[in-house]
Amino acid sequence: MTERSPTPSPGPETARAKRILGANPDAWDAAYRADEFGRLHGLRESPRYGVIAAWLRHQVPDDGHVLDGGCGEAALFRHALRDRSGVSYTGFDLSGVALETARSVIGPEGMSRARLIRAGLGDFVPPDPAERFDAIVLTEVLSYSRESISWLPRYRPWLAPDGVMVVTLQHPRRPDSGANGPFRDMHAAMQGGDWTVLDSVTLTNPLSRNAWDLWVFR
Ligand SMILES: C[S@@+](CC[C@H](N)C(=O)[O-])C[C@H]1O[C@@H](n2cnc3c(N)ncnc32)[C@H](O)[C@@H]1O
Repeated sequence: MTERSPTPSPGPETARAKRILGANPDAWDAAYRADEFGRLHGLRESPRYGVIAAWLRHQVPDDGHVLDGGCGEAALFRHALRDRSGVSYTGFDLSGVALETARSVIGPEGMSRARLIRAGLGDFVPPDPAERFDAIVLTEVLSYSRESISWLPRYRPWLAPDGVMVVTLQHPRRPDSGANGPFRDMHAAMQGGDWTVLDSVTLTNPLSRNAWDLWVFR
């Protein structure tokens, strides 16, 4: 794996730590060891996965294949794909620690239709480059590298003919957050004409004071 951000930008801050995560696998491993992302499995994140699940239900056939880039601990599988037993799942992530947890979240039965791969968004290539995905999901992963939105076109060739990309980004919480750049770039990409936006949603949670923009597009 070669990908590293030359100047990692601080992504969204977590409640418990101000680590600079960027695209640094060691920093992500440390954050997962400290259980800084356990909240992603919790109630207040579930509406985000709920929207994605509904979109996947609509777009991914029952024998389809979903690619989850920056899958972390496979919370997407838990929330959206566990009950879709004919759907194959490929998750990849920079963090080996997250992938270990993902394996147990998916469980032995789920692993019969799942693959977990250690890779970065900028250098991931499917094990069989000829394979195609009905949906490629990048949820809460693009905020951490300044150049991340420029990686989106890499994924287009791996979409099935009716396949879709799903991207979500949390609204940056501070004007000086490193997440502002990718957030702006993503909005520009969705308005730029290179992609067809099929649906877009903004979610807000007044209790956690979080908000997310979500897009499904091709
Ligand atoms: C906030 S977590 C979200 C995890 C998962 N997508 C979810 O929503 O449950 C961000 C994840 O993105 C991964 N990540 C960050 N930058 C990445 C990159 N450049 N390539 C691959 N994974 C990356 C991290 O290791 C981490 O697991």
